[in-house]
Amino acid sequence: MYYTVEKGVRKQMEHLVITGQKQLSGEVFISGAKNAVVAIIPAAIMAKGKCVIENLPYIEDVRSLVDTLTNIGAVCEFTGDNSLIIDSSNIEKYCATYESVKKIRASYYLMGAFLGRFKKAEVAMPGGCNFGTRPIDQHLRGFKALGAEYTIQHGVVKLSAEKLTGSHIYLDMPSVGATINIMLAASMAEGVTLIENAAKEPHIVDTANFLNMLGAKIKGAGTDVIKITGVSELHGAEYMIIPDQIEAGTYMIAAAMAGGDVTVRNIIPKHMDPLSAKLQEIGCMLYEGDDSIRVVSTGNLLPTTVKTMAYPGFPTDLQPQMTALLCAANGTSILTENVWENRFQYINELKRLGGNITVEGRVAVVEGVRQLMGAEVNATDLRAGAALVIAGLAAKGTTTIGNVKYIDRGYEKIEHKLRAIGADVKRVGEKNIG
Ligand code: EPZ
Repeated sequence: MYYTVEKGVRKQMEHLVITGQKQLSGEVFISGAKNAVVAIIPAAIMAKGKCVIENLPYIEDVRSLVDTLTNIGAVCEFTGDNSLIIDSSNIEKYCATYESVKKIRASYYLMGAFLGRFKKAEVAMPGGCNFGTRPIDQHLRGFKALGAEYTIQHGVVKLSAEKLTGSHIYLDMPSVGATINIMLAASMAEGVTLIENAAKEPHIVDTANFLNMLGAKIKGAGTDVIKITGVSELHGAEYMIIPDQIEAGTYMIAAAMAGGDVTVRNIIPKHMDPLSAKLQEIGCMLYEGDDSIRVVSTGNLLPTTVKTMAYPGFPTDLQPQMTALLCAANGTSILTENVWENRFQYINELKRLGGNITVEGRVAVVEGVRQLMGAEVNATDLRAGAALVIAGLAAKGTTTIGNVKYIDRGYEKIEHKLRAIGADVKRVGEKNIG
C-alpha cells in the first residue's frame, strides 16, 4: 500500500493499478515532444514579443517551466487545445531559484536563454532524474568559449559576459543539453559559432527550427556540425512542437509486450527507425503510414541485443522500456547502456515483477521468463516508470505503481491513452486514510 504519515495522519499516495494480460488494440494519439518543449519554452524568453506554441504536451515538466517563466515576469497563458502563449517582452529578471528549478533537469536551458538575452544568468544547478551524475561541464565550456565567465556558489551557476562572441566549439561528446544550450546563447552572440560533435536528436532540430522562426540564423541542426550566425534581437512567432519520439516508442513497446494490434498516430515514422528495426527483429509486424506506425504482435518475442547510442542510434530513453519487453522474450537478451553511467536502478523493481536480470556496470543480461507476476512497485524515474507500466500490462494479476509523479513528467494522460487501447489501468488518487 502506498502511504505516508503527515502530521500523524496516514495519507494514501497516488498510484496506478494495472490488471495485466489484456491484449491491446486500437489507436494511440501521440503528444508533442517533451524534450523539445522543455527547450522551446526557455528559448521563448529570448523573444521580445508573443510566442504561440502548439501541440504542447500537458505534462508536469511544462507546468514547472511555465511557473518559472511566470515568476520572472513572462505572461503565460494556456489556451486549451494544447497551446501556450508566452510573452517575454517585459521580463527583466535573469535568475531562477532552486525552488523553481529543482523539479526538472531541463531548467539548465534557462542559462543559455538568459545569457543570450541579458548576457547574465543566475540559475540553480539542475535537479532531474537519478541515474548517475548529470554534469554540465560541456554547457559551461561552451558558454566560456562564447565569452562568458561563470562561478558556481551554493548550488547556483552565475554567468556573465560583457558581450557574447561567436566561437568554434568541439563537444567532448554529442550532448543534447550542451548542444541546445550553446545554440541558445550563440543565437544572440556577435558573429558565427560552430558547434562540432553536436548531438542530432529530433528535438535539437525542433529547437533550431523554433529559434529560426524567432529570427535566429541556424544551419546544420540534425547533423554533427551546427552553424549559428548571431543576431541582436529575436521576435515572437507561432510554432508547432514535433511529436514525441519516446512517448511513441513507449506505446509501440507496450503493444509488442501485451500482444495485439496498435497504431500510434501523429508521429514522424523516421524518428522511430532504431526502435522499429528492433521490434521487427524480435518478431513484431510493423506497417508504416505517413504519420503513423501500426504494431502487430503475438506477444511471442525473440531475444536480441540492444546498445543505446546518441541519435540515430537506439535511444537511451527507451532502454528501460525495452528491458521490460525483453523480460518476456524466449531466450537471453543483452542491453548495453552507453549514454548514462547508471541507468539500471529500476531493475530491482522489474525483478519484483519476476524479471530475471543481472546487471554488470553498463550491461544488463535479461533471461526471458514465461510469465511476469503482478506486484507492488515504485517508479525510480520517468522512463523506469514507463517500463514498469509496460511490464504490468503483461504480468499475471495486479500491478500497482507508486511515484506516479515521475511518469506524469513525460507522459500526458497515460492511463487514458492505455485504456483507449484496451488496457485495464486506473489511477488511485491521494487520500487521507486516518
Ligand atoms: C537529454 O538529457 C534528455 N533530457 C534525456 O532524456 C536523454 O536521456 C539525454 O538527453 C540523452 O538523449 C532532456 O532533453 C531534457 P546529454 P541531457 O547531455 O541533455 C554526459 C528523458 O527521459 N554529459 O545528452 O542531460 C552525460 O553525463 C530524459 O526524457 C557530460 O559529461 O543528456 C551523459 O553521460 C532522461 N557533460 C551524456 O553526456 C555535459 O556537460 C549524454 O548527456 C553534458 C552531458
